[in-house]
Amino acid sequence: MFASIILLLICIVFIVIQLKSRRPKNFPPGPPVWPILGNILDLSLENPLKDFERTYGNVYSLFLGPKPVVVINEMKTIKEALVTKGVDFAGRPQDLLINDSSEREGLVMTDYGSSWKEQRRFALMNLRNFGMGKDSMEERIHGEIQYTVDTLEKSIGKSFSPQNMFHNAASNIICQVLFGKRFEYEDETIKTVVQCFTENAKIANGPWAMIYDSFPLIRSLPLPFRRAFKNVETCRKIAKSLMNEHKQTRVPGEPRDFVDCYLDRLDKPGDRSSFSEAQLTMYILDLHFAGTDTTSNTLLTGFLYLMNYPHVQERCQQEIDMVLEGKDQASSEDRNNMPYVQAVIHEFQRVANTVPLSIFHSTTKDTELNGYSIPKGTLIIPNLTSVLNEEGGFRICIICNTGCWLERLIAVLF
Ligand code: HEM
Repeated sequence: MFASIILLLICIVFIVIQLKSRRPKNFPPGPPVWPILGNILDLSLENPLKDFERTYGNVYSLFLGPKPVVVINEMKTIKEALVTKGVDFAGRPQDLLINDSSEREGLVMTDYGSSWKEQRRFALMNLRNFGMGKDSMEERIHGEIQYTVDTLEKSIGKSFSPQNMFHNAASNIICQVLFGKRFEYEDETIKTVVQCFTENAKIANGPWAMIYDSFPLIRSLPLPFRRAFKNVETCRKIAKSLMNEHKQTRVPGEPRDFVDCYLDRLDKPGDRSSFSEAQLTMYILDLHFAGTDTTSNTLLTGFLYLMNYPHVQERCQQEIDMVLEGKDQASSEDRNNMPYVQAVIHEFQRVANTVPLSIFHSTTKDTELNGYSIPKGTLIIPNLTSVLNEEGGFRICIICNTGCWLERLIAVLF
């Protein structure tokens, strides 16, 4: 009997040792890995990466369950990976909650390859044609600001949360590019979309997404991550109905907005490209989400920052008044004469830290970074928080690589 128990224990220990994930040869170092769980218990919600770089350096590894992950810190190393070795690190992981809920359509989570290149080229060209990064965007921003000012004026003397107002304002600017129209702040459709986005952003950055990503066996269980699928489905129905409205009112060859451009592209006869109606639906949602949540959360942080530092607010106001000389609207050129306002905007972009772990990448081939070997298909986390807290670090907008329309929006607002 005693011998059987010992034998059983040895078998269990052996199985557990076999289940333990091991770092491949010359893989970046990291904390000890638990069988089955990996390093999941080492991560906390308040400070998920716990400053591991202090112990393991700028390139280290963790295990989400059995899945190896490489975390990259600091500007120099992130630049080496995402710019110098851009193609090696240009993939996107394909087995996360965010991939499953979007059914692998859209742009943001599409893996590196010809479809991604085709869709991204299309977005860059057509977003520019409809004003992104151009002065025509300024008119839309001025128009939208009128509605935010009205909303603020109605709230005088009452308590008021600016969260929805900023979400709606940012959403309306991107909606005008995508659908050629804005929505009233009380419009039920846009309220639903914004609510779904906000909820999904929370789920994607919370513990349930981490559990879903780490343990494939539990994915079909009715756990809270199912909500993310429901939200995407709700938004997909709304995007489809907007697309159908466009189909009925469009004049082929005379696009009014991004959706019309895409429908024109779908008309190309015998086209065997990655363009499809299903792809368009998720594409619209990707662009809307990418352009809404980031911008509105940055604006919210800006508001909070200025409320906390009234002397900074006052100095910004003085500079704006001096440069505008009585004009009631600022233009993008005016910001060149507002170095203090620009510095403040950069500072609250830094403090806002809107996308702290960027969007996850993956390696497209076996590669190396800082002398470590990283196999093809490894999930890569660029730790942007580490860049924003670095001495002498800086932040550029991913859309235009310099000062952007977001800055213009903020400059006009204040
Ligand atoms: C405060 C404003 C913004 C911030 C902080 C921000 C930040 C980011 C970051 C960190 C990434 C990941 C880049 C990477 O994969 O390495 C990203 C990707 C992306 N952003 Fe933004 N973004 C902002 C505004 C916008 C706007 C206004 C749009 C468009 C309407 C947009 C569309 C996208 C898209 C489409 C991608 C995915 C690109 C791809 O995978 O090819 N973003 N953004």
